Amino acid sequence: MAWFWVVVVGGVSVSLLVLRRIANRAKVCPSKAMMTGKTVVITGANCGIGKATASELAKRNARVILACRDVGKGTKAVKEIRRRTQSGELVVKRLDLASINSIQMFADNLRKEEQRLDVLINNAGVFQCPYTKTEDGFEMQMGVNHIGHFLLTNLLTDMLKKSAPSRVVVVTSSLHKRGTMNFDDLQSEKAYNKAKSYANSKLANCLFSRELARQLCGGNVSVYCVHPGMVMTNLSRHVVPRFIKILLTPLALLLGARTNFEGCQTVLYCSVADEVAKETGKYYGNCKVEPWHQVATDDGVAKKLWEVSEKLTKLA
Ligand SMILES: NC(=O)c1ccc[n+]([C@@H]2O[C@H](COP(=O)([O-])OP(=O)(O)OC[C@H]3O[C@@H](n4cnc5c(N)ncnc54)[C@H](OP(=O)(O)O)[C@@H]3O)[C@@H](O)[C@H]2O)c1
Repeated sequence: MAWFWVVVVGGVSVSLLVLRRIANRAKVCPSKAMMTGKTVVITGANCGIGKATASELAKRNARVILACRDVGKGTKAVKEIRRRTQSGELVVKRLDLASINSIQMFADNLRKEEQRLDVLINNAGVFQCPYTKTEDGFEMQMGVNHIGHFLLTNLLTDMLKKSAPSRVVVVTSSLHKRGTMNFDDLQSEKAYNKAKSYANSKLANCLFSRELARQLCGGNVSVYCVHPGMVMTNLSRHVVPRFIKILLTPLALLLGARTNFEGCQTVLYCSVADEVAKETGKYYGNCKVEPWHQVATDDGVAKKLWEVSEKLTKLA
């Protein structure tokens, strides 16, 4: 009887794997564009989607700056990428998005040491952490996922303009659909729900992308907002214990979750593809444009979020 179940489970697993492979083939970046002579900054590039994107961009011969809060982890990621490819240039620079001071130092250093900036990929993210604050008193998920990237992008906009045509790729999540912009309690000081706060920060990513695209319209700096799908990274570290994640990963992958390589494909597509170079202010998934969810389409809210973020980061 045992052999019967081995055959059934084996057969189902193989069929799911084959189906999964067929389904994910369509999601691989169709563009073969090379990035020779182009400089890309990726935040949170020491692991997960950011590291996979850095690896793919290096294969396309880009100069890739891995902006990581832990330079040791960034250097380890570079060594791992170098086992797969010798192409491109890989540079690690320190960036802690939970610190305005660190963001300013990173931007100053980049402006001094780099000739150009062709693509900025706002990828780093924190997911459902316990209530904590950034160095400057912002709730951690809103602080890192939105406010830190807001400031970084603003400090690098002149460089992006000088290097135009250039791009900003913002990594959001489809969970933004559950978000709301509560301007009375943006830092969740009155009530903190870790899932809601993540959704709010990812909605902020979408609203920021739309307003940035509107402001940069006609300037040859394109803005793309990307959801990567469900990817088996370390993002769930605050919610799922490591050993459970290891146990569940094969099942999750069989059921359609993505590997890091698969998860980075739409980020890569928006960073390199010639066919989307002139597009801006759109939402992407599976290497194609998808409709914005209604919660992200209120341009008045996007403008207000911009103004509030400017005040919080002392840009205005
Ligand atoms: N995985 C998914 O299923 C999924 C789905 C939808 C959207 N996303 C989005 O995809 C993006 C990448 O996430 P991932 O899945 O690749 O997760 P990940 O493997 O946990 O990577 C997150 C990265 O962000 C960095 N980071 C966290 N706090 C930072 C800070 N204060 N300053 C600078 N870097 C910081 C992390 O650095 P450390 O290693 O030092 O912590 C890490 O490099 C996130 O924006 C996430 O919201 C992921």
